[in-house]
Amino acid sequence: MTRHFLRDDDLSQAEQTAILDLAVELKGDRFGTRPLVGPQTVAVIFDKSSTRTRVSFAVGIAELGGIPLIISTANSQLGGKETATDTARVLERQVAAIVWRTFAQSGLEEMALGTTVPVINGLSDDFHPCQLLADLLTIREHRGTLAGLTVTFLGDGASNMAQSYLLAGATAGMHVRVASPVDYAPTDSVVAAADVAAAKSGGSVTLFTDPIEAVAGADVVVTDTWVSMGKEEEKAERLTTLGSYRVDAELMALARPDALFLHCLPADRGYEVTAEVIDGPQSVVWDEAENRLHAQKALMVWLLQQ
Ligand code: CP
Ligand code: NVA
Repeated sequence: MTRHFLRDDDLSQAEQTAILDLAVELKGDRFGTRPLVGPQTVAVIFDKSSTRTRVSFAVGIAELGGIPLIISTANSQLGGKETATDTARVLERQVAAIVWRTFAQSGLEEMALGTTVPVINGLSDDFHPCQLLADLLTIREHRGTLAGLTVTFLGDGASNMAQSYLLAGATAGMHVRVASPVDYAPTDSVVAAADVAAAKSGGSVTLFTDPIEAVAGADVVVTDTWVSMGKEEEKAERLTTLGSYRVDAELMALARPDALFLHCLPADRGYEVTAEVIDGPQSVVWDEAENRLHAQKALMVWLLQQ
């Protein structure tokens, strides 16, 4: 059975740990593992803009001995004339894996059903699981462990990042807190799935509306843009409603003194986070951005071995 990575809980805790362990190994020896030598091609498709995902997949595929084929949907038949299923049938005859950044999670599911090569979610409206592998790797590097740590996500609780923190954090045995206004709470089905993962791992999931309560004693504080791609029309409303969830020095001071700050980037300084925090000593955002490369290389190696 082909394994895909469409959402964070596609991996068990043991599988997630194995991929993070492999990422550490690959980070220490960047050019030593080359399963794509041939070279084989990996298609990386973008319906939305990207800097980190585009670069880290392109570099990672090349370092694994393969060729990255970067496709913009605007210049392809996908999204217009052709379905995800038909696109997948064409691609599987020629590429080793497919990475897709898109809007609806259902499109990724459709593509995965239609193909025998691994499909990787490069970000959807609902989840950003590759980013979470990089975030978990970063937290583990700085803290030595994941299980038992408390991570607080503040802001848009229904965003791909918040929902991926719920699933990936719970899978890792973390205590995941999400603080958001009621109208921006994570979807019930994602919270239910995170509860299932937490029950297996010994982690927990708690939703808050009060940012102060949510951040108290946290080991890790995370936020993301208040205006995700596709939500631009709601910008004015979001900037107002999410205003009290800004991560500033005062809020950070309520977390543990050694708490880490993470943000997947790109960041809107002065909105979801102040410059003082994101550019300050507790921020590990540049390690986090680099770790996209190592985590995704490990993910691809692991998926191709299944
Ligand atoms: N964090 C992240 O996915 O960044 P890009 O949108 O630049 O890929
Ligand atoms: N939540 C953001 C993440 C960007 C990497 C978005 O979807 O735009």
